[in-house]
Amino acid sequence: EPEDFQHARIKLHGFHHYMQKEINEQAAIFADILDDSGCDANLAQLLDNNAARILCDIEGITLLASGSSYHAALIARYWFEALAGLPCTVELASEYRYRDAVQHHNTLIIAISQSGETADTIAALKYAQSQNHTHTLAISNASPSTLMQLARFQLFLAAGPEIGVTSTKTFSTQLLTLYRLALCFAKLRGHLPPATEAAAIHDLLRLPRAASDLAMITEQLQEWAHKIFDSKQLFFVGRHLYYPLAQEAALKMQEIAYIHAYGFPAGELIHGPLTLINKDLPVIACLPWNRLTEKLLANLQEVRARGGELFILSDAGLASAEHFNVICMPNNLHDLNPILYGIALQTLAYNTAILQKNEIDTPRYLSKSVTKV
Ligand code: G6P
Repeated sequence: EPEDFQHARIKLHGFHHYMQKEINEQAAIFADILDDSGCDANLAQLLDNNAARILCDIEGITLLASGSSYHAALIARYWFEALAGLPCTVELASEYRYRDAVQHHNTLIIAISQSGETADTIAALKYAQSQNHTHTLAISNASPSTLMQLARFQLFLAAGPEIGVTSTKTFSTQLLTLYRLALCFAKLRGHLPPATEAAAIHDLLRLPRAASDLAMITEQLQEWAHKIFDSKQLFFVGRHLYYPLAQEAALKMQEIAYIHAYGFPAGELIHGPLTLINKDLPVIACLPWNRLTEKLLANLQEVRARGGELFILSDAGLASAEHFNVICMPNNLHDLNPILYGIALQTLAYNTAILQKNEIDTPRYLSKSVTKV
């Protein structure tokens, strides 16, 4: 065996692909990031660095990102709004940089990029700075990096190097860091009732174990992969936090399984996509038990009525039936659930791409970091 192959095998630690290794590392990364009280040392360092006073005074947040980082930002918007009561907008860096966007001067601009080198995200941050936005924060898994150097404040992700082109552990770590940040804003601004904080910390401390418990559903996800891998199209649907997660799941399928996949907000099915439903179009839904469960179930009934095959990830105690496949999530971590559902959907995409016999870590035409545009 050539030496570089041996070397790669060692670095893979027995896994077949970096993506598989990186999915599996997530529980350990969460445990490393969070201390015994559910805090994150990098966040504590940011706030020590006199950022707390400025962050306390901001009147809104604009998040700038591309690709999976954009989906993490879209999910975080729900947390910034609901927990911290801050108006929040999320912008695709490649669009924002060319728009004459208007923001309140006291807006915190947060640029998120795994690599810290995505050209559009860097240009978007520079554009915001050219509009006299001085409150800027970069969140990246690479430090030093161009993005981290540009921003006034930095928050390091500490997910470790990610080699697979499609992001897995860095997406989840972005979510974890953004959730911690939203809790901090909420607390700094006097928006966090003690009971809400205690419940959030309780869930944060359960996260590493809950992520490793996902191993319990790997086989079921592999069975789903067998059922969907030769589909020409896939729909992912969700509501609330799970709408951007559906978009991220679809992106994963496009990136590595090369399937024409779309992520929809379930409530919008009735406004068009429903006409496309048929028995050959699997619909994969995230259905956590919350105030929108009933509404989402009603949306899914519409799919069933048109002969669509449903695949549902849920903690709502549903049972499988004909054309109604259910995987029961092993844990419910409330606001943090998108991390767990996200890992399950990464596992589904990985296993689907395996059955396609695709290059998992280096998908065609894509690169880990798009540094020129
Ligand atoms: C590329 C990668 C994606 C990533 C996107 C943004 O398209 O293949 O996985 O989400 O760039 O990258 P960034 O480093 O800015 O998060």
